Amino acid sequence: MRWLEGKKIVLGVTGGIAAYRACDLVRELTKEGAVVNVVMTKAAQEFITPLTLQTLSQNPVITELFNLISESRIGHISLAQSADLLIVAPATANIIGKFASGIADDMLSTLYLATRAPVLIAPAMNEKMYLHPAVQENMERLRSRGVCFVDPEAGELACGDVGIGRLAEVSKIVEMARMILAPDYLKGKRVVVTAGPTSEPLDPVREVTNRSSGKMGFAFARVAARLGAEVTLVSGPTALPDPPFVGIRRVRRAEEMLQALEEVVPGSDLLVMAAAVADFRPKEVSREKIKKEGFSGVVELERNVDILRSLSSKKGKAFFLGFAAETEKVRENAAKKMREKGLDAIFANDVSRDDIGFSSDHNQGTLIFSTGEEKEFPRLEKEELAFRVLEEISGKM
Ligand code: PMT
Repeated sequence: MRWLEGKKIVLGVTGGIAAYRACDLVRELTKEGAVVNVVMTKAAQEFITPLTLQTLSQNPVITELFNLISESRIGHISLAQSADLLIVAPATANIIGKFASGIADDMLSTLYLATRAPVLIAPAMNEKMYLHPAVQENMERLRSRGVCFVDPEAGELACGDVGIGRLAEVSKIVEMARMILAPDYLKGKRVVVTAGPTSEPLDPVREVTNRSSGKMGFAFARVAARLGAEVTLVSGPTALPDPPFVGIRRVRRAEEMLQALEEVVPGSDLLVMAAAVADFRPKEVSREKIKKEGFSGVVELERNVDILRSLSSKKGKAFFLGFAAETEKVRENAAKKMREKGLDAIFANDVSRDDIGFSSDHNQGTLIFSTGEEKEFPRLEKEELAFRVLEEISGKM
């Protein structure tokens, strides 16, 4: 899904060694459909040429406030007014100070004062500069005016010091841009999402689990955060990296998933139960690795805890969305599960297909509400499906 399609983004690049990473940022933003106009300060041009960013953005790069040619092509006031978002990355202590004090002595600082678009700043500098009270106070001042920051990361800095001050990952800056520009259907809501399989141990090396990759739940968590929610993701074992701007709790067994949910579900507004909880677990867990020799060949299983049923007493005002993994009579079986588990809605997906469901990047199915309403979703990338389902549900919470 191209979250930034058609969005006009002005990218301010200032003079620090991380200026070269603006190239990746321009590529990522344009790849997602944004129209990017780059503005470079004089110092930025010491690190990277305007031609590089002009080639990548396919738009003229603006370097001077009083340049007759660029001003006639794209006036600074019209650029400020037409922007959907102003990003400054990397942002030096100097530009942060200018923004905070209202100094407008070059193109970028003038644009900041002239635009009413949201502003996103990704600082990058030496740790001592970053932690200096002057810089921190300037950032606080900007925050209080609604400016968003993507905090720098800790690690080895260009100057050789180790500490905080490295420009945030480009993917994190892009994610924040998506969050700022996405609709805010879930603003102020607390959303809990589960993802992945649970894994039930048989001995120290073997376990009973299933093919869930976590992709569906992770997509819901990312999208809910973009739509403005405060998101907690409770995930079984998956190979997926932690999504940015989402609180994550990693668990293994169904019992652990239930315990985590008992802590985070009370007071929440929505639970999206996309996890494939193992229905059975080995009755006995061996402390030692079970030897081949003398093994009877039989593993006795017992029913696992039903998480959704166990959570019903903690539901409160929360909207519970379950998932039904079915291979036959998909709609009917899903509707039955929704009633039995006391859910507000259930997403019925056919897990007998290879091109949707388990491990696939796509999914398809029917969203069934306890009111009897139903909505069909065609085969979509999981992120787009999550967006459409959340859009549907947000009107009913
Ligand atoms: O992770 P992916 O690879 O992206 O795959 C996505 C998915 C196919 C796993 C997902 O779309 C999905 O269908 N998740 C639900 C899987 C499942 O456990 O379905 P079920 O029909 O067995 O359970 C119905 C509901 O009860 C589910 O919301 C489930 O989380 C919940 N449940 C199940 C068993 C149990 N012991 N406790 C539960 O709470």
